[in-house]
Amino acid sequence: MKIEGKKVNLTSNLPTPLEYLPSISKELGVEFYIKRDDLTSLAMGGNKMRKLEYLAYEALEQGATMLVTAGGAQTNHGRQTAGVAAKLGLKCAIACLDNYPGEISANILLDRLMGADVVFRKPTGAPGEQQAFLNDVIAHYEAQGEKVYFIPFGGSNDVGMLGYYECACELDRQAKAMGIEDATVISAVGSIGTYMGLWCGLKNEGSPLNLTGIAILPFGEDREKRLMEYFASAKESFGLECEAERGDFHIETGYVRGGYNLPNEDVRKAVYLMARKEAIILDPCYTGKAFAGLIDMINEGKIKKGEKIIFLHSGGHPGINTPHHRVEFERELQDGIIMM
Ligand SMILES: Cc1ncc(COP(=O)(O)O)c(C=O)c1O
Repeated sequence: MKIEGKKVNLTSNLPTPLEYLPSISKELGVEFYIKRDDLTSLAMGGNKMRKLEYLAYEALEQGATMLVTAGGAQTNHGRQTAGVAAKLGLKCAIACLDNYPGEISANILLDRLMGADVVFRKPTGAPGEQQAFLNDVIAHYEAQGEKVYFIPFGGSNDVGMLGYYECACELDRQAKAMGIEDATVISAVGSIGTYMGLWCGLKNEGSPLNLTGIAILPFGEDREKRLMEYFASAKESFGLECEAERGDFHIETGYVRGGYNLPNEDVRKAVYLMARKEAIILDPCYTGKAFAGLIDMINEGKIKKGEKIIFLHSGGHPGINTPHHRVEFERELQDGIIMM
C-alpha cells in the first residue's frame, strides 16, 4: 500500500477468496467472479469488518471503553461493530433513528447476542433530529462513565475507507494472479465508504481493474455532494496522488428499486438465482439489489457478453430474516414446503 494506516487484526481470514462462479457465468453469459467479503470472520462477516479494523485501532489508541455507532434498525454495520466491541472487550450501543420492528430478530438478535444495546427513537422528520439523537445517546453513556468512540454510519469516514483501499490492493494482486486484471469490479453503494476505498485504492496504486458502483438508495444532491467531499477529504488525509472529477466515478443510480431496504421482486429473484446456482446467500437490501442491477446492466447491454465481472459480496445475509422481507420469502417459498 502506498499510504499509511494502522489497524487491529480482527479478520483472521484475509485475503478473502476470489472465486469463479461457473453456473452464474453460464446463466448470464459473462465471466463471473465473486469476492467473498461476506466471509470475513467475526459476527457473521461482511464489508464493515475491514473498515472496523482501522477504526478500532483509533478507538483503542484514544482509550475508548465503548463504541457507539448509528444506522437503520437492521444495520449490518451495527452488527459488525457489536462483534468488534465484544472481541475487544468494549461496550457497544447502536443508535437507530428508526421504528423498532417489533421483534428481536435478524441483525437485532445478533446485536443482542453479542451484548450490544440497540437504542431506538421514532423519527419525526424534524431538522437536525439525527444529530440530536446521537448527542443524547453519547451523553447517556458518558454519564455512566464510558469513554465513547463514535463511528459514523457505515464506518464511512477517512479512516474506515482504508479498509477498502486495502481490499483494492488485495483484489489487484488476486486478479493479476488469475489473469483477469481487465475485469470490472461491481460493488453496492450505500454510505459510499466501500466504493470510495476501492476507487482510491485501485487508482492510487495504478491497478488496471475497473470499478462500477450500484446505488442501493436514492443518489440525490446530498450524496453527490458527499461523494466529492469524501474524495477531497481522503485525498488530503492520506496525500493521495490521484485526482478525480465527478465523471471519474462510475455509479449506476437507476437500480434503486423504490428506495432503501424495500422488498422488491426482482431483488428476490436475483437472491434465488445466486442461491440456487451457486449456494451463495445474498441479502435483500444491498447485495441482492446490486446483483439485480448487474443483471439489468447485462440485459441492457451496458455490460457486454463475455465481459469479466468481479462482484463484491459485501455480506448482509442476516437481512433475509428481517420481518418485512421474511414475509415475502415465506409467501413465495411456501410451494416447496411439502407434508407427506
Ligand atoms: C451488506 C452491505 N453491503 C454493502 C454496503 C454498502 O457499503 P457502504 O456503506 O460502504 O457504501 C453495506 C452498508 O451497510 C452493507 O451492509
